[in-house]
Amino acid sequence: MSQPAPADAAAPGDTDRPAASAAMVALTDLHLELESAAGTVNILRGIDLAIGRGETVSVVGPSGSGKSSMMMIIAGLERPTRGRVTVAGTDLGALDEDGLALFRRQHVGIVFQNFHLIPTMTALENVAIPMEFAGRADAFDAARAMLASVGLDHRETHYPSQLSGGEQQRVALARAFAGEPDLILADEPTGNLDAATGHTIVELMFRLARERGASFMLITHDAALAARCTRQIRLQDGRIVDDGTGPAGTAETGTDGAPRRAVG
Ligand SMILES: Nc1ncnc2c1ncn2[C@@H]1O[C@H](COP(=O)(O)OP(=O)(O)OP(=O)(O)O)[C@@H](O)[C@H]1O
Ligand SMILES: [Mg+2]
Repeated sequence: MSQPAPADAAAPGDTDRPAASAAMVALTDLHLELESAAGTVNILRGIDLAIGRGETVSVVGPSGSGKSSMMMIIAGLERPTRGRVTVAGTDLGALDEDGLALFRRQHVGIVFQNFHLIPTMTALENVAIPMEFAGRADAFDAARAMLASVGLDHRETHYPSQLSGGEQQRVALARAFAGEPDLILADEPTGNLDAATGHTIVELMFRLARERGASFMLITHDAALAARCTRQIRLQDGRIVDDGTGPAGTAETGTDGAPRRAVG
């Protein structure tokens, strides 16, 4: 645990960016190693990252560079081999599985490439049931409002198999945002959609994130989409090779880590 600290150069918080505790996401010396038939695979090799509240951040990098793995750890769906993960002020390493489930319900919304809707539930139930689990008495009313806000009020009783890909992803967005999360994580959310539908989904995601003041992390292979975020993080071979705050990104603001460009 207490190995000698490396030179401070790469440590978060060494500039006037926010201290880790003030960040929405703070990763410190994060490593992920998994065993495979071929031996140990070093998937993440020492990630340090701080993301502020309300920031929109894209994560880019070659296939296999560790983007999804990093996101799964931030979501509390995967545990790192070592390193510290703090999200919305919560140290995920201190939580057991039930604690992680509760943490996700309270703080995180996740959108996947393959929608991940529950096939035996209607659109409305897919959005409402997780809120009910979270103890919301008005879960169904809130879910109806959320579906309306993504333009699907006329599809409440449809099952996922009766919805187009774009409609399914809109349900997934409604579900992700319904719990009023502090952080939205999206892993190639337009990867299975045609360009026009993907564009609609993207506009919706940015609008919802902005309206709700959520931090937003978007994994994408689409350079134009990545550029819409106010900060771009590049992963390569399990390391961050550019965290979007360096010289190429202009001077740091020094206030709250907020990016220099306004969205929209
Ligand atoms: N359960 C596992 N066991 C062993 N290796 C794994 C496991 N899961 C992922 N990996 C490896 O970890 C590396 C990073 O995978 P990850 O899915 O995070 O990449 P990615 O950057 O999201 O790639 P893509 O752009 O293709 O989605 C890959 O080399 C992958 O083969
Ligand atoms: Mg991936």
